[in-house]
Amino acid sequence: MTDLRVNFAGVEFRNPLVLASATPGWDGEGLKRAGLAGIGGVVPKTIGPVQDWAAHPCNGRLQLIKHGGKPIGMVNLELFTTMAREAWIEKELAIAKEGGAAMQISILAMPQPEETAKLVQEIQDAGMADILELNVSCPMPASTVGMHIGKNAKLTYEQTKAAKSVAKLPLTVKLTPNVSDMVEIASAVKEGGGDGVVISNSIRSFAGVDIETGMPLLRGYGGYSGPAIKPVIMRHLSEVARAVKIPISAIGGVMSFKEIVEYIMLGATTVQTCTAVMWNGYNIITKILKDLENWMDQKGYQSLDEIRGIALPHIAPVEELAKLPSKHAQIDPDKCNNCGTCMRVCFYRAISAGDNAHCVKETDCDGCGLCPQWCPTQAIQFV
Ligand SMILES: Cc1cc2nc3c(=O)[nH]c(=O)nc-3n(C[C@H](O)[C@H](O)[C@H](O)COP(=O)(O)O)c2cc1C
Repeated sequence: MTDLRVNFAGVEFRNPLVLASATPGWDGEGLKRAGLAGIGGVVPKTIGPVQDWAAHPCNGRLQLIKHGGKPIGMVNLELFTTMAREAWIEKELAIAKEGGAAMQISILAMPQPEETAKLVQEIQDAGMADILELNVSCPMPASTVGMHIGKNAKLTYEQTKAAKSVAKLPLTVKLTPNVSDMVEIASAVKEGGGDGVVISNSIRSFAGVDIETGMPLLRGYGGYSGPAIKPVIMRHLSEVARAVKIPISAIGGVMSFKEIVEYIMLGATTVQTCTAVMWNGYNIITKILKDLENWMDQKGYQSLDEIRGIALPHIAPVEELAKLPSKHAQIDPDKCNNCGTCMRVCFYRAISAGDNAHCVKETDCDGCGLCPQWCPTQAIQFV
């Protein structure tokens, strides 16, 4: 029987899927619904200090980014919780708990580390958290919070240390992908005593321009989320997992069980999701978890520990990969429908049209591997 339980930074989650800090967890009821749908953990919207910091545009702040008519991502201009801190402490967190998921509370790192420590103390004293998540990564603020802290290793270290000076619960830090080297920042968290890292918040971005009016689709810089960001997050996750020994929660573009498996194979322990729930509702949680369980059963895995990090040893510098033997495309004439797609995407001019099928001149093929992925009839093998 498959066991989906995981232990993240000393806290047991009934499964690895966690509702990321965002709109679906803007109040206790939303978090409770995610819990009742079966999710392993929930993270409320980031709890900050005073209300005017949290005000976000209520005249449009979410923009779908589409390609070929289908959404591939979303830009948002949403800041922190719009709910008073007292409301969370006195009422909303207790409602959220009724869903039965582990409670990972997101706390905003304040401009001064001492203020952060005070906030951590206050949230911890409410007695509702199982684990804490310090937010040094919101991509929107033009001021001294969010990614302005998280892109700097020294500031991240100071914030982690201050939060840890009062934290009795495990403390994780949610990092920003808007850095060239996340390893340096994750190391600063570890040095500051952090118990885990969350990789990561959304990518600072711009939504686009309406070409009829010349107006920006959203008039500010926002956070990019959803399926399109997965490769960027996987880069950061795998670099950190290979270099820093610290528990990791991964987030970015998790739309199905497959991305959970991928993230765990790259070293994550829990995997968070936001956009999938925003696009499909809380019920998608139940489906994703069922699919994960079925996949584990089919593969004969009993625990997620068996797959954690298994992809990491196969990652190598590109210079090393260049030393490996070459491969080339090979076309099966029985499957080729002569459509010409492979010729169009081959910039080495290695593929030519035949009477009934295309053929590859092996010595001209540079082994890039693109044509088999475009072939509509799976006629090309890469050997
Ligand atoms: C509308 C919206 C609001 C968000 N609010 C927060 C927030 O308050 N705190 C936070 O740490 N991250 C916030 N995020 C970032 C998400 O938690 C998550 O890191 C990001 O969306 C990537 O995950 P996804 O691709 O599954 O959406 C927000 C994201 C969205 C789309």
